[in-house]
Amino acid sequence: MTTRYRVEYALKTHRRDQLIEFVKGLLAVPFVLLSQPTVIYEKDKAAVATMATTANARYAQIMKDVEDLINDHIAHQKSPHPTVSKLKMLVPSVGNFFTSLPLQAAFERQDRDRFISSRRFVAPSFNDIRLILNTAQVMSLVRDSKLELVTFDGDVTLYDDGKSLTDDNPCIPRILTLMRKGIRIGIVTAAGYTEPEMYYERLHGLLDAVAASDFQKLKHSLVVMGGESNFLFAYTPNSPCKLEPVPEADWQLPEMRDWTEENVTALLDVAEAALKDCISCMRLPVQVLRKKRAVGIFPSKGVRLSREQLEETVLVVQRIVEMSPAGKRIPFCAFNGGNDVFVDIGDKSWGVMACQQYFGGIEGSKSLHVGDQFLSAGANDFKVSPL
Ligand code: IMP
Ligand code: MG
Repeated sequence: MTTRYRVEYALKTHRRDQLIEFVKGLLAVPFVLLSQPTVIYEKDKAAVATMATTANARYAQIMKDVEDLINDHIAHQKSPHPTVSKLKMLVPSVGNFFTSLPLQAAFERQDRDRFISSRRFVAPSFNDIRLILNTAQVMSLVRDSKLELVTFDGDVTLYDDGKSLTDDNPCIPRILTLMRKGIRIGIVTAAGYTEPEMYYERLHGLLDAVAASDFQKLKHSLVVMGGESNFLFAYTPNSPCKLEPVPEADWQLPEMRDWTEENVTALLDVAEAALKDCISCMRLPVQVLRKKRAVGIFPSKGVRLSREQLEETVLVVQRIVEMSPAGKRIPFCAFNGGNDVFVDIGDKSWGVMACQQYFGGIEGSKSLHVGDQFLSAGANDFKVSPL
């Protein structure tokens, strides 16, 4: 049993977020001790209500304790001679935190919406905890009212996979509200096109809405970063496609000087060969697409690849590129795009940092990235999380 568990765990570890798993484990204890699976709701409402009140208090206390662990971790981070925090000992993969997280308040908010403490059969889940963490992050940024930049992923965050941001998209008025408050917006997407017209096709709903708005302020507040961190365009009312390329000198970070044509070609050659190996090994029904700053595989219209095929390909390619000399010279991102696999030069952490730099050096604690891919491997938004 133990061996079986270990094997499963080792194989699936890339699909887990260790901090969320840790919190889930802590909440499982009061759930096991307090839940009332045998009580019939109508007959014994009082017992269920008592359970909910007690579970709420215990869950809230645990969230407060985790909140304190994170504050202690931040104190370690800031120390001139950082040592390993208790949280780092408990969750070795945990990264740096830009802000503290009011987890207890966020839990109370989510418990009001989702009745987590009232559940008798389903323990606090990965999803519950993910939502609590998201709520806490937003609460923290609002509480300190420090937010200066919000970056959004495209596919599966602002619009459905492979679709476009059309003018009826409910995110548009919300993004405009943020912009009116002086918050800068970046669309940081893996979709990598060298020409602004292609981004207009994908994002025209938002770009047209900004153009129709009469706020002068909005004019210098919106950029699109394509190919994760490779092509930057700024909103302009003066072009039919509402975007113009930003000269590289205005946004590229010093480290990006190593992203020479030679290094890029060498990395993409290794990635392409690895993808082709996967195609022949698993007889994948796909085509290879080589671009200026990316290489990927995708199936013909109507064909769906299985999750296993996609994940296996990502993990194999990632490992091969990581071990190659080319992969040690410049950063890259191999990810599962839902029905395709791409390897891009750079990643979204560079994309977000370049947006911060372009807008005059916005700090990490004043930025928020909103995305859909936060698993630890095979996901591109994950790269934005500080390491
Ligand atoms: P995102 O969710 O906005 O980051 O977009 C991810 C999707 O963009 C992928 O699933 C691909 O289908 C698509 N895509 C188009 N061009 C590229 C590219 O050059 N690199 C990576 N993904 C791309
Ligand atoms: Mg996405």
